[in-house]
Amino acid sequence: MSTLTGKTALVTGASRGIGRASALALAKAGAQVLVHYGRGAQEADAVVAEIRQAGGTSEKIAADLRAADGPHVLAQRTRAIVGGRLDILVANAGISGAVAIEETTVEHFDNLFAVNVRAPFFLVQQLLPVMCKGSSIVLLSSLAAHAALGTLAAYAATKGAIDTLVKHFAATLGERGIRVNAVAPGVVPTDMSSFAKTEAGRDFAIGMQALKRMAEPDDIAAAVAFLASDEARWITGDTLHVDGGSKL
Ligand SMILES: NC(=O)c1ccc[n+]([C@@H]2O[C@H](COP(=O)([O-])OP(=O)(O)OC[C@H]3O[C@@H](n4cnc5c(N)ncnc54)[C@H](OP(=O)(O)O)[C@@H]3O)[C@@H](O)[C@H]2O)c1
Repeated sequence: MSTLTGKTALVTGASRGIGRASALALAKAGAQVLVHYGRGAQEADAVVAEIRQAGGTSEKIAADLRAADGPHVLAQRTRAIVGGRLDILVANAGISGAVAIEETTVEHFDNLFAVNVRAPFFLVQQLLPVMCKGSSIVLLSSLAAHAALGTLAAYAATKGAIDTLVKHFAATLGERGIRVNAVAPGVVPTDMSSFAKTEAGRDFAIGMQALKRMAEPDDIAAAVAFLASDEARWITGDTLHVDGGSKL
């Protein structure tokens, strides 16, 4: 199945977790994939190598998305590689942190919004000149935006902002034939949700899910690849819940 042959894709935060799985899924479907990373150069190299070994085309690309000019730098580097056309943007890079409301500092709050909201906003802005009819943007929301889980208020608010941006971006960019959607995972046992690797964490996650197994990054990546493809050509402005039926 090579539904994305000839397409170019950028996946942010593709060195690990859900971003890594999404980069591999897009490459498997035939896309040329730019593997963005922040600190994990070696991990990004491994993702690029895996794609190339399977016959695909890939390069790694660095940028600190917490920096105010991070998205601008990343967009410049992306445009230098893909030239005039980017078909798929997966704005996946994110940070989290369970902190009680009383313990939340301004620094923690600002960092969350810088990486999770400001960076995707300005990345979309800066890449718009090279996105065209048929391009697809996928942002990462979260179950936390729709259900009060743990001590995640500030993080959850960043994902609520993503759901709002999806609607505004989709409404504005539809005229240009660009679709914009989000996926909202539940608990996925990555570095970010390392508590889910403990027995208590697994019990918590499976206890709130209709489907009684732990999620894997591939489960989310499959939905990302679907939304990026022409199979999802009539879907825009939506947040797709990809959470095994969590908190139904
Ligand atoms: N895991 C879950 O349970 C879950 C649930 C719902 C939603 N999500 C969302 O899914 C997305 C991916 O999460 P994940 O679980 O895969 O996280 P993860 O395993 O912790 O990976 C995070 C990725 O983001 C990158 N990143 C973080 N800060 C960055 C920065 N300042 N500059 C550049 N890159 C940065 C990291 O790159 P480097 O390591 O190279 O720096 C890494 O590739 C996030 O948006 C998250 O909010 C996750």
